Amino acid sequence: MNKRNILLAILFIEILLIAFVLYIYNPFLQLRLNGSEIVKINIGSEYIDQGAKASYFKDDLTSKIKIEGKVDTDKLGEYTLKYILKRGDTVREVSRKVIVADLASPEITLVGNNEVVLCGKEYVEDGYKAIDNIDGDITNKVETKKESNRIIYSVTDNSGNKKEVVRVLIPGDNVNPVITLKKSDILTFEENSEYKEFGATATDNCDGDISSKIEIISNVDTSKHEIFEVIYKVKDSNGNEGIAKRKVKIYNHDDLNKGYKEIIEGPTYIKNILIVNKKYSVPKNFKADNQGALKALKELQNAAKEAGHSMPLKSGYRDYNYQKALYEKYKNKNGIEYADIISAHPGHSEHQTGLAFDVGIGSVSFGRTPAGIWLNENCAKYGFIIRYPEYKQAITGYKYEPWHIRYVGIEVATEIMAKEITLEEYLGIYDINN
Ligand code: DAL
Ligand code: ZN
Repeated sequence: MNKRNILLAILFIEILLIAFVLYIYNPFLQLRLNGSEIVKINIGSEYIDQGAKASYFKDDLTSKIKIEGKVDTDKLGEYTLKYILKRGDTVREVSRKVIVADLASPEITLVGNNEVVLCGKEYVEDGYKAIDNIDGDITNKVETKKESNRIIYSVTDNSGNKKEVVRVLIPGDNVNPVITLKKSDILTFEENSEYKEFGATATDNCDGDISSKIEIISNVDTSKHEIFEVIYKVKDSNGNEGIAKRKVKIYNHDDLNKGYKEIIEGPTYIKNILIVNKKYSVPKNFKADNQGALKALKELQNAAKEAGHSMPLKSGYRDYNYQKALYEKYKNKNGIEYADIISAHPGHSEHQTGLAFDVGIGSVSFGRTPAGIWLNENCAKYGFIIRYPEYKQAITGYKYEPWHIRYVGIEVATEIMAKEITLEEYLGIYDINN
C-alpha cells in the first residue's frame, strides 16, 4: 500500500469509530434534572418534585421520562428518585436524593410574662415548657442561663435543631400606675347644683392599691355654664405617674332639649341598635320586634324574685297616641319644663319600640332600695341597661330613671353598664360641646 492509501484507511477507521461512539453515547439525547441533585425537606411538609427534562435534537421527550422511587414525607430518611429515559437501545438515567429530615426547632413556652418587672426583688422562675415536633416534651433538656437583666432558655432536639428564648428582667419598675375613674369619664351637673366628686381608684404593678395617693385637681364651679376637666394623678414609689381625666359639664334646661332642635326621623339603627331619643324619632305606627326583649324581661323578673326582690312591670309598650296623651298630661300638671325632662314627646319614646320597660317603683328613691340596686347590678346579665342614669342628664336629656330599662342584648348591655355610660356615649353620638 502506498502512503496515500494508508492515510485513507486510517481516516476511514476514524470515521467508523466516531460513528460508533455517536451511536453508543448519542450526545443529542439529553436528560437533565430540574432543580438540585440533593433536596432536603422538613418532615411532614409537602414534597413537590421538580422533575426532569428530556430532548433529542429539537424534540421534547420529557413526557417519556419514567420516574422510579417514592418519598414518604412522614418518615425521616433518604429517598432516591430515578428518572429514566429510553430511546431505541439507548437508556439515559439521572437521579435525585431527597432527604426527609427534622428541620423544625423545638418550641419553648415561658410560663408568665416574657418581660418581668422585678420591683426590686429577686426573680423567682415562673417555669417553662419545651415541645419538639419529633421528640415530644423535652422540657428536661432546657438549659437556663441567667445574665444581669435577662434569662436565656435554650434547648436542642435530637436532630440538632436549637431554640432559644429570652425573658427580660426589669430590675426596678418602669410601669405607670393605672387610674380607674369611679363613674364614667363624662358627668353632667345642673347649674348651681352641688358638684359631687366620685373619685377614682389606682393600682400599680409594684405597689398594689395606691388609691389613697391620688391627687385630684379640680376647678369645677357649678355656677358657671361650662365644661370642666378634672385631673386625677398618682405616683408610684418609683416615681412613675398615672393620669386620668374627667369632663364635667354644667348644664341648664336648654341643653336638655337640644336634641329636639334637629330631629332625625327613623327608625335609626347604629351598630345594629335602634336609637330613640330626643333627636332620633320613630314613625307614628312603628313598633320593633320585641319577642327577645319580652323573654329577657321574664328572665330578669324571675331572677329578681329569686334574689328576694319584687320587680313588677309598670309600663311596657306604649303606642304613639298613648305617649302623646301621657306627655300632655305631665305638661298640664307640671308645666312644659318639667314634662320635658321626665316624659318623651310622641315618636321619641323608647316605650313605643316595645324594647323598654318600667319596672319596680317609678321613683328616684327606687335606685337606692335593695331592689333598685339589684336591678342596676344585674340588668345587663339579661341584656338590659338603665337607660337614664344619674349625672348623665345632659346626655340623655332626661332625669335619672332607675326603673326604666332598655333591651340592647347582653354583650352591649354588659359593656355599657360596666363603664357606667349611656347608650348615646356607647354609640358615639354624643358631643359634649354641643
Ligand atoms: N320617661 C321616658 C323618657 C319616656 O317617656 O319615654
Ligand atoms: Zn320608661
